[in-house]
Amino acid sequence: MSTQRAFVIGHPIGQSRSPMMHNHWIAEHGLDAAYGRRDVPPEALGAFFEEFRREGYLGANVTIPHKLAVREHLDTVDDVAAAMGAVNCIAWVDGRLTGGNTDAMGLVANMDVAVPGWESGARHAVIYGAGGAARAAAYGLRERGLTVALCNRTAEKAEALAAHLGPGITGHGLDALPAEMARADVLVNTTSLGMIGQPPIDLDLAHLKADAVVYDIVYVPLETGLLADARARGHRTVDGLGMLLHQGAEGFRRWFGVMPSVSPALRTLLEDDIRGA
Ligand code: ATR
Repeated sequence: MSTQRAFVIGHPIGQSRSPMMHNHWIAEHGLDAAYGRRDVPPEALGAFFEEFRREGYLGANVTIPHKLAVREHLDTVDDVAAAMGAVNCIAWVDGRLTGGNTDAMGLVANMDVAVPGWESGARHAVIYGAGGAARAAAYGLRERGLTVALCNRTAEKAEALAAHLGPGITGHGLDALPAEMARADVLVNTTSLGMIGQPPIDLDLAHLKADAVVYDIVYVPLETGLLADARARGHRTVDGLGMLLHQGAEGFRRWFGVMPSVSPALRTLLEDDIRGA
């Protein structure tokens, strides 16, 4: 049998750590497979999927800006991707090229590992932002029984996303942040604020309950200003690298039928790469 191939597609794609992660697991499991990155501009998406079907590729991860646009090139999307309105993971299911989404599952799986027991007594989450990552965070946290307030600079975007996602999720402007933070058990930053090259985040954590968990999707740098501030105030914290690893693990399981381990060695491999970036 020839080498099985999978890709991460996006535009741009140079910064993706998915190849490093998946090729680590491929080697660990002794598989005849290869995971590559492909820079696919929007106008080349159709040609990529023609090639995908012709060559019989195994699967793909999808990142910005294609998470919505890939839909028309697939045979179907599963229930989670349909409810979330975004695809990040493509696999063959019963002979049909199927779009799924492992971001929400990865986000909460990361919490389960990083802050065990976080769920007990947790009822409400506040999410800063209303883009693609907020979509995954809101969906994943609601699945675990929390109500969610999306607070965004552009209030209309948060309101529209809340309306799309449905019960248990509300949308607000940033003026609602202090009150929402005061009753939240989990705070998630899904904006790019605090990322290298972006402005620092401007949240006042004094509003939070003492036992609230603080989660930052940003992982470049690994220790963001938000996480440093939260830790200094005694909050339990969760970083974004774990979300990348756990969403990836679920994709790997869908393609190869085995759940790979999110080991300290793999984490160190990616951490070293991020520090050297
Ligand atoms: P992603 O898919 O990674 O979540 P996105 O869809 O571009 O990225 O969303 C980025 C989020 O960060 C948005 O919620 C954006 O707010 P707007 O909807 O108002 O644009 C938020 N964001 C980006 N820069 C920001 C800033 N300087 N201040 C506050 N919010 C910001």
